[in-house]
Amino acid sequence: MGQSLELNRRAFLKSAGVTAVLGAVGAKPALAIETTGAPSVLLYPAHDFDERFNRVGTDCSRWDGPIATYGEDIEVAMGIADMDFRTAPCVTRALAERCAHENWGYLRRPESFLQAIVDWNKRRYDLDVDPSTVVVNAGVHEGIIAALHTFAPPGSRVLMTTPTYNGFYSDLRFTRTVTDDSLMRLVDGRYSIDFEDFERRARRANVFILCNPQNPTGNVWSAEDMTRLGEICLEHRVVMLVDEIHCDFIRGDEKYIPFASLPNTQIVDNSITFKSASKSFSLSGIKVAWYFSSNRDYLERVRAHTRTGVNTLGVVATQAALTEGDEWLDELGVYLDGNHAFAEAYIKEHMPLVKYAKAQGTYLAWLDVSEVVETIGAERTATEESASSGTDVTPESIVQRWFAENARVYVNPGSSYGTGGADHMRMNLATTRALVERALENMASALAKA
Ligand SMILES: Cc1ncc(COP(=O)(O)O)c(C=O)c1O
Repeated sequence: MGQSLELNRRAFLKSAGVTAVLGAVGAKPALAIETTGAPSVLLYPAHDFDERFNRVGTDCSRWDGPIATYGEDIEVAMGIADMDFRTAPCVTRALAERCAHENWGYLRRPESFLQAIVDWNKRRYDLDVDPSTVVVNAGVHEGIIAALHTFAPPGSRVLMTTPTYNGFYSDLRFTRTVTDDSLMRLVDGRYSIDFEDFERRARRANVFILCNPQNPTGNVWSAEDMTRLGEICLEHRVVMLVDEIHCDFIRGDEKYIPFASLPNTQIVDNSITFKSASKSFSLSGIKVAWYFSSNRDYLERVRAHTRTGVNTLGVVATQAALTEGDEWLDELGVYLDGNHAFAEAYIKEHMPLVKYAKAQGTYLAWLDVSEVVETIGAERTATEESASSGTDVTPESIVQRWFAENARVYVNPGSSYGTGGADHMRMNLATTRALVERALENMASALAKA
């Protein structure tokens, strides 16, 4: 970072109520920041999340996908939900050790792997998981699809509170089930569940997919909210599929409460929880996940739809992360808190056309771009392009293209996240602070000229 950019950065951080904590003279700027009123303080972290780790040209979805669409000009890719950081050292070490043994025959999954999952949940969330109720597979999608095949015959309705993760819609298409979107209420930038609407829809749905923390809005659901959802689902015989893949990223004072830890055992028995270390340690290419349920009947029925093998390296990497990765993940959480604080402050000060209420969880920022849509005439362009192409072009996909071409930044269009996603874009902040800053600067200066 050049000196003037560093000075500007410091001036901005100061005016935003954020203080950079610098390392020793001659060292790289330290990672952590102090935010006024926010808890993120980490003076001497062991891991360097400021390291620029170039992923371009490795066939990674995050960078090589947008570059394939928009060309080499893309300077910051902030789309798909994985992270740019070098992985935790314990993961690399374990993989290197296993690679030194040059044989790749079938794996007999060690009992210690299930124990690592159980211990992680106990240690970090005080959740007791019975290892005999854990089913390991190759991805949260696979588990959700198996559960949909079990509980939701083709044509039946699957309830979701929206906006929600776009991948659920592809799971529904795959299982030929039908979405029933319960639009969340948006008050002062914060989403809440419309329980009346939810209950009306629950009467006719087979399954509800709860996402906690919610991708893309960043909501972390309270025990009260989850209990109420659970009671409604129980009453109307709706099976709950609880996706907690983002649970290791919770901002500051917020608290993640595993659904399976709720005191009402009846509603817990009506649920299956889906998890993975793939978000927490950016192991999404390594294809290991698991689900569990206290309801053995549910478990056996879903297991009957699960024919999956797991990958040796995936098990090795995941086990290393779950047994030795706590410190890395804790430091990363602080760093990502800083990214959120930085983005919130920067947007407030420099991007009057964009609104962002800081997420309670995940490393995703859900931006309200309604004024950008208006300013660049995205609605009209989308209508024209829909008519000429015969496909459904949304204003948000026009905004995506506009930012790619004018700011060289790739973000995801809100319209792909179901009902209520219009007028929003999702921005993935799991990258270096410098790249977050670069993306926001590029976007701010493009918008200033719009
Ligand atoms: C909420 C949520 N569930 C599931 C997935 C995908 O999980 P997997 O790669 O294990 O199938 C993602 C990926 O972004 C996600 O955000």
